[in-house]
Amino acid sequence: MRKKISVVGSGNVGSTVAMRVAEKELADVVLIDILEGVPAGKALDLTEAAPIECHDSHIIGVTNDYSQVKDSEIVIITAGVPRKPGMSRDDLLSTNAGIMKAVVKEVAAAAPDSILIIVSNPLDAMCHVALDTSGFKKNKVIGMAGVLDSARFRSFIAMELNVSVENTHAFVLGAHGDTMVPLPRYSTVAGIPITELIPPERIEALIQRTRNGGGEIVNLLKTGSAYYAPASAATEMAEAIIKDKKKILPCVTNLQGEYGIKDLFIGVPVKLGSSGVEQVIEIKLTDEENQALQNSAKAVQGLVDDLKRLG
Ligand code: NAI
Ligand code: 2OP
Repeated sequence: MRKKISVVGSGNVGSTVAMRVAEKELADVVLIDILEGVPAGKALDLTEAAPIECHDSHIIGVTNDYSQVKDSEIVIITAGVPRKPGMSRDDLLSTNAGIMKAVVKEVAAAAPDSILIIVSNPLDAMCHVALDTSGFKKNKVIGMAGVLDSARFRSFIAMELNVSVENTHAFVLGAHGDTMVPLPRYSTVAGIPITELIPPERIEALIQRTRNGGGEIVNLLKTGSAYYAPASAATEMAEAIIKDKKKILPCVTNLQGEYGIKDLFIGVPVKLGSSGVEQVIEIKLTDEENQALQNSAKAVQGLVDDLKRLG
């Protein structure tokens, strides 16, 4: 049987994910939205690009028809509202929690064996909604944030040193928000820690730009948020899972005591394979780094508490 990846939300991130998944021939793609016509139109447009892009992935777009999600290996959820200038990701909590609940209920019924990659914001809190609503095992609900935040950090490191992005590696842990935790000690260029290559005040500037990476793009676009890099990040995670690559990536996962954090979704390095999160990698943190991660966890816990109050 051909492999299938479904993408819920056929807006900017969703349709770009569909394009990347199809062009890499990772799987056939089902694009879903509540809007009439839009997912079908985008799927047809992508299909008509296939002869030029040279791939044989099948792409269909449907409106609210979750029967098409059946047998999906992975479901990537991008449904929701993006932020506008002046808004934080957390301002989306109540609206997107309602959308996430409705979507995940349908997905869990149609594809109970799938792995969920959550993209909608506020990301860490939306993972809690997805886990609670689906009843899936914890390793099968994964949030996309660290791959994107680390890619941003890597881009800024490459620009700073005028080196290939391919030489860069970076880890950004914690929540997908202002409290995220970029780790310079574990960020390298050709294996050399950036702490040996870039002066501390410049590293701090790159960290601040990374923290504000999403906001910088929202302020430029004015009508929505970033989608090219987010789509690449979600696709890298899907590829690691569908090809059982055992790839170590920073992802939002439900911690069960690792890093001293329990029952909370937050970004840490994990091994991704065909079962989803196959291992949480515990790296040694300094007291300062650990404190930053715990602060980030507190911020996520605050949103989870808000979710409980919202009911
Ligand atoms: P968008 O507005 O372009 O697309 C969202 C789509 O979701 C729309 O087409 C809308 O009709 C659809 N939708 C709304 N309710 C739905 C429902 N109940 N069922 C199915 N579809 C529904 O927004 P964009 O830019 O694609 O962003 C999507 C979400 O992803 C936002 O919440 C955004 O903040 C988040 N995001 C998260 C990132 C991360 O790093 N985790 C990065 C980029 C975006
Ligand atoms: C970003 O970081 C909006 O969360 C999204 O670009």
